[in-house]
Amino acid sequence: MLDLANKRLVFGLTGGIACYKVAELLRRAKDHGATVDVVMTSAAEQFITPVTMQALSGRPVFTNLWDARPSDNMAHIQLSRNADAILIAPASTDFIAKLAHGFADDLLSTLCVAKGHCPLLIAPAMNREMWAHPATQRNVERLRQDGVIVLGPDSGDQACGETGDGRMLEPQQLLSELIAFFSRNLLRASGS
Ligand SMILES: Cc1cc2nc3c(=O)[nH]c(=O)nc-3n(C[C@H](O)[C@H](O)[C@H](O)COP(=O)(O)O)c2cc1C
Repeated sequence: MLDLANKRLVFGLTGGIACYKVAELLRRAKDHGATVDVVMTSAAEQFITPVTMQALSGRPVFTNLWDARPSDNMAHIQLSRNADAILIAPASTDFIAKLAHGFADDLLSTLCVAKGHCPLLIAPAMNREMWAHPATQRNVERLRQDGVIVLGPDSGDQACGETGDGRMLEPQQLLSELIAFFSRNLLRASGS
């Protein structure tokens, strides 16, 4: 069943090892009928290439605020206007801090500030100490208060060799969360 049929998503990738998992998530989201535009921070490009994400999405990937490809030069506005939801995965410590404070100094952060009513979901992924840091916890709480949906993180083995909270949810879990998010919205819209 195409649970994400007609859904237009923006996947925002930030700088963490878990970027590799989003390649799989993208493939599965497409299998479920979604159209996905990918936006990457320059740190994310250290972990996975735009070429991979373009090949998997079948659409141009955006990495640069000053990209001249959109006719009005404003990818940061156009991408969210056409989207049913934005998912930041992995969401780095740094990007969560930027989101919580409304920074807009690259394409992905500017897009998130300019998104209007487009729903924003984030999947944090970081070392357990970064997750436990009081600033990160404050920032995540602030984002929840702003209506951002926080998916995970999970607990377990981490890429750095430590064990604890901060692992990004697996692609299948993120896919299920996305599908559940749209089903809840549908129920709400139908008044059930
Ligand atoms: C090998 C390596 C792995 C990293 N993994 C993570 C990570 O999983 N989570 C995280 O929050 N930061 C991680 N970082 C640090 C971020 O990449 C760094 O804070 C960067 O500035 C994030 O930029 P962005 O938020 O613009 O994508 C890692 C850095 C390196 C060098």
